[in-house]
Amino acid sequence: MTKNFKRTTITAALPYANGGVHIGHLAGVYVPADIYARYLRLKKEDVIFIGGSDEHGVPITIRAKKEGITPQDVCDRYHKIIKDSFKEFGISFDIYSRTTSPTHNKLASDFFRKLYDDGKLIEKESEQLYDPEAKQFLADRYVMGTCPHCGNPNAYGDQCEKCGSDLSPLELINPHSTISGAKPELRKTKNWYLPLNQYQDWLKEWILEGHKEWRPNVYGQCKSWLDMDLQPRAMTRDLDWGIPVPVEGAEGKVLYVWFDAPIGYISNTKELCDAEPERWGSWEKWWKDPDTRLVHFIGKDNIVFHCLIFPVMLKAHGGYILPDNVPANEFLNLENDKISTSRNWAVWLDEYLRDFPGKQDVLRYVLTANAPETKDNNFTWKDFQERNNSELVAIYGNFVNRALQLTKKYWNGVVPACGELLDVDRQAIQEFKDVKEKVEQYLDNFKFREAQKEAMNLARIGNKYITECEPWKVWKTDPKRVETILNISLQLVANLAIAFEPFLPFSSKKLRKMINLKNFDWAELGSTDLLEAGHQLAEPQLLFEKIEDDAIQRQLDKLAATKKANEAAEAAKDYKAEPIKPNIPFDEWEKLDIRVGHVKACQKVKKSNKLLQFTIDDGSGTDRTILSGIAKFYKPEDLEGKDVLFIANLAPRKMMGIESQGMILSALNFDGSLSVTTTLSSVKPGSQVG
Ligand code: 2FM
Ligand code: ZN
Repeated sequence: MTKNFKRTTITAALPYANGGVHIGHLAGVYVPADIYARYLRLKKEDVIFIGGSDEHGVPITIRAKKEGITPQDVCDRYHKIIKDSFKEFGISFDIYSRTTSPTHNKLASDFFRKLYDDGKLIEKESEQLYDPEAKQFLADRYVMGTCPHCGNPNAYGDQCEKCGSDLSPLELINPHSTISGAKPELRKTKNWYLPLNQYQDWLKEWILEGHKEWRPNVYGQCKSWLDMDLQPRAMTRDLDWGIPVPVEGAEGKVLYVWFDAPIGYISNTKELCDAEPERWGSWEKWWKDPDTRLVHFIGKDNIVFHCLIFPVMLKAHGGYILPDNVPANEFLNLENDKISTSRNWAVWLDEYLRDFPGKQDVLRYVLTANAPETKDNNFTWKDFQERNNSELVAIYGNFVNRALQLTKKYWNGVVPACGELLDVDRQAIQEFKDVKEKVEQYLDNFKFREAQKEAMNLARIGNKYITECEPWKVWKTDPKRVETILNISLQLVANLAIAFEPFLPFSSKKLRKMINLKNFDWAELGSTDLLEAGHQLAEPQLLFEKIEDDAIQRQLDKLAATKKANEAAEAAKDYKAEPIKPNIPFDEWEKLDIRVGHVKACQKVKKSNKLLQFTIDDGSGTDRTILSGIAKFYKPEDLEGKDVLFIANLAPRKMMGIESQGMILSALNFDGSLSVTTTLSSVKPGSQVG
């Protein structure tokens, strides 16, 4: 049953302020949330779009410790980076604030206190891991040890990153605290729990009966939780980073990050409304009025928090509305591999913009076209190029360009009048009128991929129309008819500017400028009167440009280098140095004559993919030729001009028909790669080494 709401509060998951934003974040949460917010605004609905950084939690403290800075420093750095990235990509938050704000601190604290005062929380003692040297309780992530499943000596207390097992710190073999290295002990501590079990029946009724329209992935995940017995969940932690628990006897304890983070949506709304009450009204209107519709955009790993825990918090508190929908997405993979911050397997937004300046909409388009709405999906650079070149450029950009260039050519860029309609015109008009309803239906049901496909269909209709009408031919015999063809084409162009505004806001803006379309709103989509006869268009420009193979290859090379570095790092974990060879007498060592040589020239040996040929200045006045099997690891030109160490009195030997007079010394790395040795400071060729 759909209710008629008066307004909509849209939230997008608050990202942790301990790293940048990558394409997985954009595709999973922020682009769909933004499309939805823009769509409702275009429909002139009352809407507020709330974002912000999640600045508490253990990972932030770990990063701070690693870098020797405070958690607040970490938050300050990443809050700015994240906020800037969202702005660059047109994510049109009405506010992007943070959970270290004073407003949030107070609101979250008051929220907890009310639950506590109303007896909605359970006080319970439990045994937690404690570091006796650092004198503090340890979050699971602060404990490391050997994984009982795969033997990885670097497994964390909550997860083994090698075999992917979920762990509890008590399962680890030889556990140790990452703070002091001490063996953790179990100690009793008191915390406050939200008795989810007491709300299980209510949750079942509310979600399983009341929200059958939720996406199958969201509904299914809720159902599998609700089919099990829910347990009370601790809402406080023994930690020194977070919002202090506002209860006597709770010193050294903070609110659980998943307690305070969703309250961040409310605090950020309050911050905005308090700052601009005349524009937004009271914050309570957005969170307490049953006529307000609340929609949370999140990734699938956040479902339990937004569909079960936060609603129970809101219900227990009382007075708040509950989410009407939680359109959670699945995950986006990158080139068939899971996106991972620790393995740097990601496309970071700031890097993307450096490599593809001004192409925010291309990424938005591709991410929506591949949105992981019903299942995990994959981003590949080839697909990115293909969608840009054969959809944005060849369909959307091409149609706009044809319509505007023809108008410029035949009508000096002025919109001609529409004359008598033929069947072909009526059909095109009908087709593009139908698009509005389809796009709306998809957007209303959070089907953003399909909605964008329909918007693109407008451009397809336009291309087909111009091709069928052939104005360049008709011009010679019936210029009046061309007026009508151009008028209809231009109306379609204006429709495209509206239809694509939620999806590709930068391109829509550019297009609106080209056609001088000042006022526009969603209700006008499908209209044939958006541009009046006599309306002057601006100079046409290309809306999108082709992306060449080399730009894509650079991205693939970057990923290949990341993969190689990851493999090397992985191998390095297991690496043990070769055993040392038996001792030799000193006089045997003295027989070796090791010298410094200056590389005058270096080149590949023909027909060999292993050998490089060096021409060495060995200080004797006669150049020396040495062959070395390092071609896989160096470009010859990179070695020219360098000083290298070589054995000068090794008996010469022939390889590939060339005599090698010595041996260049290289270190054999654990992964089989070779690294040429050199001196720390420059010395004369021929200097002895020993
Ligand atoms: O998973 C995350 O990145 C969390 N920081 C999301 C929090 S959403 C909300 F509760 F604030
Ligand atoms: Zn393991």
